[in-house]
Amino acid sequence: MRSKLAIKPATAAPIGIFDSGVGGLTVAKAILKQLPNERLIYLGDTARAPYGTKAGKTVARFAVECVNYLMQYKIKALVVACNTASAYALPALRERFGIPILGVIQPGSKRAAAETPNGSIGVIGTSATIHSGAYPKALRQLAPGIQVFTQACPLFVPLVEEGWIDNPVTHEVARIYLHELIAKRISSLILGCTHYPILKNVIAAICGSEVKIVDSAETVSQELSEVLAQRRLLQTKKRSHSSLQCLVTDIPDAFIRVGQRILGSELGSVRKVRVMEVT
Ligand code: DGL
Repeated sequence: MRSKLAIKPATAAPIGIFDSGVGGLTVAKAILKQLPNERLIYLGDTARAPYGTKAGKTVARFAVECVNYLMQYKIKALVVACNTASAYALPALRERFGIPILGVIQPGSKRAAAETPNGSIGVIGTSATIHSGAYPKALRQLAPGIQVFTQACPLFVPLVEEGWIDNPVTHEVARIYLHELIAKRISSLILGCTHYPILKNVIAAICGSEVKIVDSAETVSQELSEVLAQRRLLQTKKRSHSSLQCLVTDIPDAFIRVGQRILGSELGSVRKVRVMEVT
């Protein structure tokens, strides 16, 4: 068995957030809102994104390399903001790194299972996330009688990155992707991809008010807060401004442009880094 890279727990240490690229800033934004005193270090693997079209083993390898890089910041916990990486990389990450590691699939599934009265849940995500079956597996473990319907929506990621949010093309694409799920009379829909909360209004308008939209970004930040509190790792010292440091693996221009749109504010420091192969 591989030895774990344990770090000393410290309330002042930063929280690491890992994503394939820029979309995980939806999760960072939710965490900053929930835990405004914390310091966040975000790594977006922009050089190798998208992950949602890649093989599970490739995604797991990329994730290990990125988190290995983040460990030098002595992070006290890690959030895997990327749904695709959460679907494929959590066991490898937990085996290798001895800190609390949260993915987005479990928190999103818990919320949906708790809030779905008729036991019929829709899940949308990248092709790789849907292919992994990770959401149906998590949901059925939480609520064995539940019915789960899934739909890959690969065009949503480039539409969001182009800034085509309230756009007729996006509405039409969403209608095409969602009509079968709506026909199944789902009562909740899990947004199983970092980018989809940006399209929440478009998706909600098409699904109608009877369908509850579950945003994993919100639920994971609540769970992170609980995990840090249980382990006495919460930063209690008040911070006058939020702290988010971003690292990317490719030139930062597009990340900054799209990221500022997602955060709705300036991004602060964004630095290009080189992650190494891990054997
Ligand atoms: N971050 C990915 C996810 O949540 C979406 C973008 C990608 O495919 O890399 O699944």
